[in-house]
Amino acid sequence: MASKIDIAIFASGNGSNFEALVNAEKQNKIAVHVAVLICDNPNAYVLQRAANHNIAAFVVDRKQFNNKTEYEQAILNILQKHNIQFICLAGYMLIVGKVLLTAFPNKILNIHPALLPSFKGAHAIDDAFNFGVKVFGVTVHIIDNTIDGGTILAQRAFEYYGDNKNEVEEQIHKIEHTLYAEAVNIYYNKTYK
Ligand code: GRF
Repeated sequence: MASKIDIAIFASGNGSNFEALVNAEKQNKIAVHVAVLICDNPNAYVLQRAANHNIAAFVVDRKQFNNKTEYEQAILNILQKHNIQFICLAGYMLIVGKVLLTAFPNKILNIHPALLPSFKGAHAIDDAFNFGVKVFGVTVHIIDNTIDGGTILAQRAFEYYGDNKNEVEEQIHKIEHTLYAEAVNIYYNKTYK
């Protein structure tokens, strides 16, 4: 069997989606190897998760660089050194810029906690809940140079008629933790097979 291709995950905070993808690999549910974590936040809990799983983690702090180009060039050097084939954003709070979009064309995936194209942006769950929608959901898509734009790979929806935002969030995260792995396989099968 050919060896698996290597991917990188970018995360800024908690990292539950990072961990879900790592566990999916361990359970042979994804066809790729999570080789690298890129994290822009030195205090993020996701770094602890990477250490627990012995995954190479790199903190690249935007504040240490003069501009986004230099910041992303530093990340690109790491990715190239590790022969990374595609990237999964998982709670990465910065907007991906030109350097990485050019180096990884149609090779950067993102998970968004709403049914795109509705509720783009960093507060999607709050926005959907406050709007009063009754169908919530999760989207995994390939990113382009617009906020939460690009080709959709997978979506999952659920109805909720209650008034407890925590319940909605819980359900969204539960879906995320299986949908990202499914979307990675959809993408892999489309792109590499
Ligand atoms: C998720 O809700 C994801 O959809 C959004 O950021 C959150 C990250 O959560 N992009 P975690 O850090 O993976 O726990």
